Amino acid sequence: MSDAPSVQQFGPDRAAGYDDRIRRLCPGYDVLQDTVASVLAARLPERAHLLVAGAGTGAEIVRMGQAHSGWRFTAVDPSPAMLDRCRSNVSDAGLENRVEYLDAAVEEMPGARSFDAATSLLVTHFIDGRAATQRYVRGLAERLPPGAPLVWADLHRPASDEAFRTLWAAWRTQMRARLDADTVEDAFEEIEEGISFVRPAALTHIVTDAGFTPPTPIYRQLLWGGWIASRRAD
Ligand SMILES: C[S@@+](CC[C@H](N)C(=O)[O-])C[C@H]1O[C@@H](n2cnc3c(N)ncnc32)[C@H](O)[C@@H]1O
Repeated sequence: MSDAPSVQQFGPDRAAGYDDRIRRLCPGYDVLQDTVASVLAARLPERAHLLVAGAGTGAEIVRMGQAHSGWRFTAVDPSPAMLDRCRSNVSDAGLENRVEYLDAAVEEMPGARSFDAATSLLVTHFIDGRAATQRYVRGLAERLPPGAPLVWADLHRPASDEAFRTLWAAWRTQMRARLDADTVEDAFEEIEEGISFVRPAALTHIVTDAGFTPPTPIYRQLLWGGWIASRRAD
């Protein structure tokens, strides 16, 4: 088991409440999951094996698995509590025979298996610092052959501070309409402490340095963003 901070951040209590909490904090969560599934369907054949990095409670596996009966998944996550939830959600969806689990950080995955595509949804903003993000993205690149797509999503920080402040304030306003004031204050305090908002320009450098094509945006809602890139041949 990894001692990465995410293991502490995603303990049993957090894992138990995650599916409800993420849908409140990320109003477009289900649209994001649908978008990722559609974008990958445009790129993958009927039979494919996907690496689901930071699988968490398995929303992307359930969404893609139900829509594509020929896809198999390897769920990789260093949090045993999140993976337990993932197993239970996958089993409730009747997909247990198409999913295998690896209790590890992507950059510490054993073996050399390669995949047809990878997803990394809402993971990079939990990885603190450029060096750690580089190791993570290189870990993904090592698992993909030339041409294979990587789709990721995270909370990003626009280049301008004014734009960041505006989108942050708009997000709080949206949350206040969905949650009571104390819950919103607690959630935003936790977000300020625990999230490393990703700068898209910096992540583009990291991704292209790791051997991917320049990313294309696929999703955007306030500070939530999604991108796709492909593994280059070189
Ligand atoms: C916010 S959850 C996202 C879960 C799911 N992908 C989703 O879209 O809801 C982030 C997950 O990333 C995992 N994680 C953090 N660092 C990781 C790493 N280096 N490799 C793989 N997973 C990681 C955490 O344990 C956590 O379960």
